[in-house]
Amino acid sequence: MTKHRTTLVAGATGYLGRFVVAELHRRGHKVRAITRSRERAVSPGPWDSPSLDGLVDDWAVGEVTNPAFIADVAEGVDDVISTLGVTKQKANPWDIDHRANLAILRSAEKYGVKHFCFVNVIGGDQCPAQLTRAKTAFAQELTASRISSQIINPPGYFSDMTQILQMAKKGRVFLFRPETRINPIHGADLAKFCIDRLTDGEEGAWNVGGPEVFTWKGLAECAFQALQRPTRVTTVSPAILSPLIGVLGLFNRRKADTLRFISWNMLHDCVGEPFGTHGLLDFYKDLVQKDGD
Ligand SMILES: NC(=O)c1ccc[n+]([C@@H]2O[C@H](COP(=O)([O-])OP(=O)(O)OC[C@H]3O[C@@H](n4cnc5c(N)ncnc54)[C@H](OP(=O)(O)O)[C@@H]3O)[C@@H](O)[C@H]2O)c1
Repeated sequence: MTKHRTTLVAGATGYLGRFVVAELHRRGHKVRAITRSRERAVSPGPWDSPSLDGLVDDWAVGEVTNPAFIADVAEGVDDVISTLGVTKQKANPWDIDHRANLAILRSAEKYGVKHFCFVNVIGGDQCPAQLTRAKTAFAQELTASRISSQIINPPGYFSDMTQILQMAKKGRVFLFRPETRINPIHGADLAKFCIDRLTDGEEGAWNVGGPEVFTWKGLAECAFQALQRPTRVTTVSPAILSPLIGVLGLFNRRKADTLRFISWNMLHDCVGEPFGTHGLLDFYKDLVQKDGD
């Protein structure tokens, strides 16, 4: 197959990034993948996300925080998709979600890239966490750039919904506000949506989630159903959050900020336009079967 279009993927080794690379490869794009470990990139990813072995045409191996490495990373590239961002990594989101993405954007501008698709987070401009502030600040820079931008705002991914399954396995799910709604999305579905927007080329921002809307209590019921156990949910008062985040922040500011982000998402409806085909119950059942529970 002749490959006409080269797409640079930042965050290629992450849960979502791996599905993005696989989908670009399937559609015949030439893929340049940024990674800090090629060895890790070709190993299977978390939660059934694919190995990048055989899917990448051109490896860009280095640290996204190194200006010399990033300056020319977009040379010869038509489009960029960035799923780069701090989740569990020990890093300051302002260094990665904001500065590193901005450095990639500057490289893209320098080399005349046509489209830049950025994976942000739904409601990020309302959430008080540093993580979402750093992302919002980058999204503003991207919107102001002359490059055509596609900003994708999803709620939690299936990978993050495994936290509910973990609690259910231990016997009880703790929630702050059980009736809050969310439509989590599978990485393969979100990757398709991102690439559809990129190839359409229309500039804009989209709130997108998976095909099923749950309450958080419904997520817990789904996890217990996969485990074939009775549902056990305990509601915890959100009033404990502020002092808890304050105390945690004295010892570990990064963890406190993550808790601020997660709890905000559990207290506010996070529902995007429904998209995709993957169901959460099947995802949970697969995990349960693999774990032999
Ligand atoms: N997970 C969710 O539920 C969710 C929901 C909404 C939005 N998002 C956003 O979607 C994006 C992708 O999420 P994900 O769940 O796929 O996250 P992920 O699995 O943690 O992947 C994040 C990617 O960013 C890279 N990265 C993070 N910190 C880095 C650092 N200090 N130096 C170099 N690279 C770094 C990771 O590289 P390594 O593999 O080398 O660590 C990885 O490639 C993130 O921006 C996230 O904030 C996630």
